[in-house]
Amino acid sequence: MNVLLTGGAGYIGSHACIALVEAGHTPVILDNFSNSQPAVLGRLQAITKQAVTCERGDVLDTEFVEVVLRKHAIGAVVHLAGAKAVGESVAHPLKYYRNNVAGTVSLMQAMESVGCGVFVFSSSATVYGEAASVPIREDFALSHTNPYGHSKLVIEQMLAAQATARPDWRVAVLRYFNPVGAHPSGLIGEDPKGVPNNLMPYIAQVATGQRAALQIFGDDYPTPDGTGVRDYIHVSDLAQGHVAALGALLQQGRNLTLNLGTGRGHSVLEVVRAFEQASGRKIAYTIAPRRPGDIAQCYADPSLAQAVLGWRASRSLEEMCIDTWRWQSGKDTIAP
Ligand code: WQD
Repeated sequence: MNVLLTGGAGYIGSHACIALVEAGHTPVILDNFSNSQPAVLGRLQAITKQAVTCERGDVLDTEFVEVVLRKHAIGAVVHLAGAKAVGESVAHPLKYYRNNVAGTVSLMQAMESVGCGVFVFSSSATVYGEAASVPIREDFALSHTNPYGHSKLVIEQMLAAQATARPDWRVAVLRYFNPVGAHPSGLIGEDPKGVPNNLMPYIAQVATGQRAALQIFGDDYPTPDGTGVRDYIHVSDLAQGHVAALGALLQQGRNLTLNLGTGRGHSVLEVVRAFEQASGRKIAYTIAPRRPGDIAQCYADPSLAQAVLGWRASRSLEEMCIDTWRWQSGKDTIAP
């Protein structure tokens, strides 16, 4: 099927593009390159061994999206385009409500105009706020602690309203936990602009010497070693989860809300040690105060996705670190 992949040149998007091709779909990337590089397209062609179509533009341009949907006879949309930095969303909330919420409204209006009603949405475990317990199930209470998480929650509620108003629509909401890692080719991976907000890319930049030391935000949490515990999931597992969800929408014909996580929590110190093993580099760190908004533990109960999709994450923390290191240590030598 021809699948519109918004944000398809980004970190998650590029890996989802590969998974869609491997499953026999034809992805059409729609990206404004605000947080991605056009060079990724050539690398995707090298990995998939086939041409990858990309339409440069913004989901906020409803008419443009409608033209793209018709031009490529799109049968389904996987929507990954959006802003995703928690801290930035606190400083610039309107950017997040415009890009994420208004952008999704625009995309869905274009879909309605052309009669396309199969939609896979990139949501986040952030919608659980500070969960009362772990592991986290899909029926847990939802809340938000920042505009980024709020934008994801609002979009989930919009999708529920659309699915009610349009019974012919099929919607899958996928709640990501902590995506990390890179494609084993070393040709694509996470490449944040500026100082990384997230743990894994920051550790990777310490390993290459780009950063002097990691700041561990708090070692006094009620966790086994005092540092924060998260559910790190390999980005290739996450990408394959999208393909499985799309397949379920097409075959089972019902709406889905699913956690995409491993069900295992790892502490910051465990990730540091695993990365030292993977890279052979010492990761210097200092203990810093807790980061505002951080929670002690967050990891998924992945059993619903396994039952409904027959999908489960299979790659280990060690593989996540090995693949990240291969990408991080080689990315500046890749031919443009
Ligand atoms: C992980 C752990 C930090 C950086 C965020 C978003 C979430 C999703 C994934 C989009 C925590 C600690 C981190 C550092 C550290 N994004 N840490 N030093 O906060 O769990 O989730 O990214 O969907 O929505 O909220 O990920 O990687 O920032 O932090 O000690 O320099 O690493 O305290 O315990 P987080 P993270």
